[in-house]
Amino acid sequence: MMDIKKVLVADAVDASCVQLLKNNGIDVDCKYKLPKEQLIAEIPKYDGLIVRSDTKVAADVIAGNNLKVVGRAGAGVDNIDINTATAKNILVLNTPGGNAISACELTCSLITSLARNVVPAAASLKAGRWDRKLYSAMSCMAKRLPSWVWTIGYDPIVSPEESKKFNVESLTLDQIWPLADYITVHTPLIPETRNLICEAALNKCKKGVCIVNVARGGIVNESDLLKAIKSGQCGGAALDVFEQEPPTDSVTLELINNDKVIATPHLGASTTEAQIRVAVEIAEQFIALTGKNNEYTT
Ligand code: MLT
Repeated sequence: MMDIKKVLVADAVDASCVQLLKNNGIDVDCKYKLPKEQLIAEIPKYDGLIVRSDTKVAADVIAGNNLKVVGRAGAGVDNIDINTATAKNILVLNTPGGNAISACELTCSLITSLARNVVPAAASLKAGRWDRKLYSAMSCMAKRLPSWVWTIGYDPIVSPEESKKFNVESLTLDQIWPLADYITVHTPLIPETRNLICEAALNKCKKGVCIVNVARGGIVNESDLLKAIKSGQCGGAALDVFEQEPPTDSVTLELINNDKVIATPHLGASTTEAQIRVAVEIAEQFIALTGKNNEYTT
């Protein structure tokens, strides 16, 4: 059991989180967009911290205080320095399933938008053109449709039998590269997945392969992707996440502005339903730590 009396919510999470914590006797302050120095000065007043992705819970943010738990209202914990947290016995919690359906919906919309040139065609019409021929999908699209039901995937943790239950045929990465028309990544950003989609991988792919990243910036190497788009090796990309957010790097900006790229501002988890789910899930985990069962609904 953990004594959690006071929690700081440092990024905007759905109000149900604060409500549930308060209903269960936990004092909560919401202070968003605090400059780092101010965050460091505030944290010693709290037992727990709840963030989304804006707040970077770096080593120096958690090093000099008695924080007991950090909660991420979302799946990725790459904005939290896990090593420092572990060394200081600070528990790190996340809500891995809460926004998965929303991220999946965005992935599907981006794949279909890439396949049917929706974004450049809409931009062209807004610019006063009527380019029906230019943006008609390739005739082989019809042939590709069945390949959407033939989903191949690689996951080092999920067994081939388990994958089959989701209609995914489990293959190795080297088997996948030359077969896939669309490659979508759904992994956390960890050393093993950084630059997973790099020049070497792209060169093993079919010419014209399309890349979708709704997971984390850094899994797809942005300069290698730009190079592959320019050479035609990559036929298009849809990116919801970037190495740096918001992006300022010239390579990222060039990617975002490339006609073959659909870029969205980290919207995978941004649905009302997902935000309520992650808010409730993180609050319930905090409440459970105190030894209580949440008896309230929002
Ligand atoms: C996640 O890691 O689940 C998402 O990045 C959540 C978010 O956008 O806040």
